Amino acid sequence: MSTQKSDISSFAQTVVDWQREHGRQHLPWQHHTDPYKVWLSEIMLQQTQVSTVLGYYERFLARFPTVKSLAEAEQDEVMPYWAGLGYYARARNLHRCAQVVCSNFDGSFPDSSQLLATLPGIGPSTAAAIAAFCFGERSPIMDGNVRRVFTRYFGVYGHPQKRAVDLELWALASQVVDSSPADLNMAAYTQGQMDLGSMLCTRGKPDCLKCPLKNTCFAYANQLTHELPTPKPKTVQPQRYCEMLILESNGAILLEQRPDSGIWGGLWAFPQYENSDELYRACVAMGIQLTPEQKMSALLHVFSHFKLHINPWHVKQSAPILAEPQANQEWVAITDLGSVGLPSPVKKIVEGLYGEQQQLEWAEV
Ligand code: ADE
Repeated sequence: MSTQKSDISSFAQTVVDWQREHGRQHLPWQHHTDPYKVWLSEIMLQQTQVSTVLGYYERFLARFPTVKSLAEAEQDEVMPYWAGLGYYARARNLHRCAQVVCSNFDGSFPDSSQLLATLPGIGPSTAAAIAAFCFGERSPIMDGNVRRVFTRYFGVYGHPQKRAVDLELWALASQVVDSSPADLNMAAYTQGQMDLGSMLCTRGKPDCLKCPLKNTCFAYANQLTHELPTPKPKTVQPQRYCEMLILESNGAILLEQRPDSGIWGGLWAFPQYENSDELYRACVAMGIQLTPEQKMSALLHVFSHFKLHINPWHVKQSAPILAEPQANQEWVAITDLGSVGLPSPVKKIVEGLYGEQQQLEWAEV
């Protein structure tokens, strides 16, 4: 095995030169210094690919063009513009963050990563990225893509989510910035690290031959790209099960707003039960007779940390439902379902049942 050949002092400028020639140049949030637009893109891009974010970003900005317009909206008006992007805590924090910027910072985002990191939903890496893009601040970032580049280039072993490994990576990232030329273009360096991680230094099949860092990369020199970053120790993914009740009456569906904490927080979904006993009891309380034919095909929804098996039941009631909806429930006309923030499996079920007949216009949100 060869010794470490990594070169701290040339790392950043090499990434900048590569970014200018081969990196992403035409994303709608690039070459802006408006922190609102940059912040929005960075939050959307957390755990989500660029290609998925593009449409959401445009629709969101068209509806909420300024931080003030977002702060003044109700959370229920915001959620439909996030529905399908996942990780809904991001949308709730986004809304709270806009309100804090308006109430505590006079409607202007603070201009340092240190202050940005005090805002809801903005961690140290996102804060540094926003500050680099908008203000040219010399602060390092360390997201999933960048971790891959650093663990391979510098030969850092251990799962990156372990505290000691995380600290080592941040320390290296700081050393790289500190030892780089004073005129280093921080926006290009920051974007370059992200681009390198997602375009070349990928998890499964890194394209090392095209990489500008290959001549000094520890993993490339030692043929260890498949071993670095050190994978997370394997755990069995838990399986969860639930029953969903699609109760239809008079052209409307009963929906329930999910609590802010937990999956799909703030979105509207079908009433959900842990098992069929609970579902039966709830139906009896509403004067509904459940029959086996009402059971639809099961659905599997994969989250990052568990798998959810969904059993949907479609109950179409011609007689009026006498029971009052609960406080967190509302009857929503089928024709209005397109404008409500629905989790993706709920949307899938709605599309299967009513998509053709109602021509639901999802594109509006
Ligand atoms: N992931 C997080 N931020 C990003 C950005 N600015 N460009 C591409 N991917 C990203």
